[in-house]
Amino acid sequence: MTIDMATERKSLVAGNWKLNGSGALAKEMNQALNACDFNSTEVVLCVPFPYLGIFSSSNFEVGAQDVSAHDSGAFTGEVSASMLAECGAKWVIVGHSERRSYHAESDELVAKKAQQALKAGLTPIVCFGEEESIRDSGTYVEHCINQVAAVIEVLGIELFASCVLAYEPVWAIGTGKTASPEQAQEVHQKIREFIAQKSADLAGGVRILYGGSVKADNASELFAQPDVDGGLIGGASLKADDFKAICQSA
Ligand code: PGA
Repeated sequence: MTIDMATERKSLVAGNWKLNGSGALAKEMNQALNACDFNSTEVVLCVPFPYLGIFSSSNFEVGAQDVSAHDSGAFTGEVSASMLAECGAKWVIVGHSERRSYHAESDELVAKKAQQALKAGLTPIVCFGEEESIRDSGTYVEHCINQVAAVIEVLGIELFASCVLAYEPVWAIGTGKTASPEQAQEVHQKIREFIAQKSADLAGGVRILYGGSVKADNASELFAQPDVDGGLIGGASLKADDFKAICQSA
């Protein structure tokens, strides 16, 4: 199968604060990131909803970590994609493994959330990845392909013109156990090949981030893999110096 490997994919580093941070950290990070030159790397910081409005920047963008699957209505506690856009978000993470496991989010719900994001002009970062038992059983590639296929089923292949994918092996998230560059490359390449069966152009253009214990000292070798287009960074995005170093190695 031919995937146009000459396609230029701009590298992207997205931070994910999860349920961490404070208004003070948001202000500090805003200042620190605004003082940086990221060259051609695109930088995004996905923060808790209340902090979105604190950031103002020309060299990075902010995003949220979840979005409602609904437009409006009696859904206490939810935040819609258009509300996020109104607060300055340009991106939103959907289908993070923590949402899938602690909030029982199904593939279908993840797809609906991505659809809501697109409707409001936000770029969804669609996460997929296997638990350790699936890695050990050797069926991790099929597992990841199935998660990506479920999103395509709802949104169609054209989704890949306007979303970013993030491979997040659950066993590597917050554990300090990073996937090796070869392990990351294998899954990224298989996912790109899977998309290429439907559209070589879209497969060549879609960015696939790696997430799972990316740190300043392992980022470069992961980002050097041909199908790894950047990273989704949890813990290390809470420290300005670490996050800047990771962005600069992409
Ligand atoms: P981590 O988290 O970098 O702390 O492992 C990654 C993620 O969950 O996005």
